[in-house]
Amino acid sequence: MVIAIDGPAGAGKSTVTRKLADRLGFSFLDTGAMYRAVTWAALSRNLELSDSDGVLALAKSIQIAFDADRVLVDGEDVSEQIRTPEVTRNVVHVADHFGVRDRLVELQREIAATGNFVCEGRDQGTVAFPDAFCKIYLNASPQYRAMRRVEQMQNAGQYVDFDQVIADQNLRDEQDLNREVGPLRRAEDAIEVNTDNQSIADVVNALERIALAKIAARSES
Ligand code: DC
Repeated sequence: MVIAIDGPAGAGKSTVTRKLADRLGFSFLDTGAMYRAVTWAALSRNLELSDSDGVLALAKSIQIAFDADRVLVDGEDVSEQIRTPEVTRNVVHVADHFGVRDRLVELQREIAATGNFVCEGRDQGTVAFPDAFCKIYLNASPQYRAMRRVEQMQNAGQYVDFDQVIADQNLRDEQDLNREVGPLRRAEDAIEVNTDNQSIADVVNALERIALAKIAARSES
């Protein structure tokens, strides 16, 4: 079983989807981490991200794996390295790459075939798992999303300039929504949940209700 959860950056997706997976006894797949892993691998090998063939060859040659909440590239734990501002700034070049997206979607399907998964990303309900029995689109207003991002950066001890956070977010939204391959879209059959003004616990409860209703409907049919 796959529960597909998509939505823009900063809607609180990773925190609540992890908790949802725990509650349901499902595994969790963070697909953004896979795009970040390829970006980190390219940067750490001084590969030009504009080198389309080189980036694709790299994406096909490295092994991306998950060990609980750790992200491994060829066995090396890169969970922290993939969250640096440098990777965040550059990941768009990898997420824009048609061949890399194909490869990572294939890997996502292979991983999800091994059990019950909550899969989080931008294209899970539309491209990776169009037949998922439960699809959720997690959304929030730009202000709330930016506030969450600021909080995350402060917690990570990073310097925060609010105007810069808003500008970066606008740019990422523009790139995520308008790219030719794998743009962020709400699947027609996804249930939209807005997380503005809601605590994490409230959102997890809401998602759990949706998921349990879908699981019940699935076992009746
Ligand atoms: O969710 P995140 O910030 O870790 O995602 C990193 C980048 O990868 C972001 O630019 C969106 C992109 N992404 C994507 O294109 N498709 C996915 N399924 C997941 C993430």
